Amino acid sequence: MIETVYKITGAPRIALLSDLHNRSFDTVITSLRSYRPTLIAIAGDVVSSWYPENDQSPLETQENVKPFFSACADIAPTFFSLGNHEQFLDQQDLKEISNP
Ligand SMILES: [Fe+2]
Repeated sequence: MIETVYKITGAPRIALLSDLHNRSFDTVITSLRSYRPTLIAIAGDVVSSWYPENDQSPLETQENVKPFFSACADIAPTFFSLGNHEQFLDQQDLKEISNP
């Protein structure tokens, strides 16, 4: 994990995250809790793309994705943009992660 902090007096505390790629996220969540961000922005690639097995959603086969979104949403309002690794998410998946 690479962590860079810019302190700007009077500015909202924005946490910008990217490239979880379905990895364990405990360290990230611990760090987020310590910084108490005003909002969390996730710039994509939370999943790791590979061809789905048996038409299963990446949300079903990648165990860290949904808990990561839920943990972020428990800390602060969370916004997510799609990265190239989200190519196998369908509309139902997007709806699901919109309401963790
Ligand atoms: Fe990536």
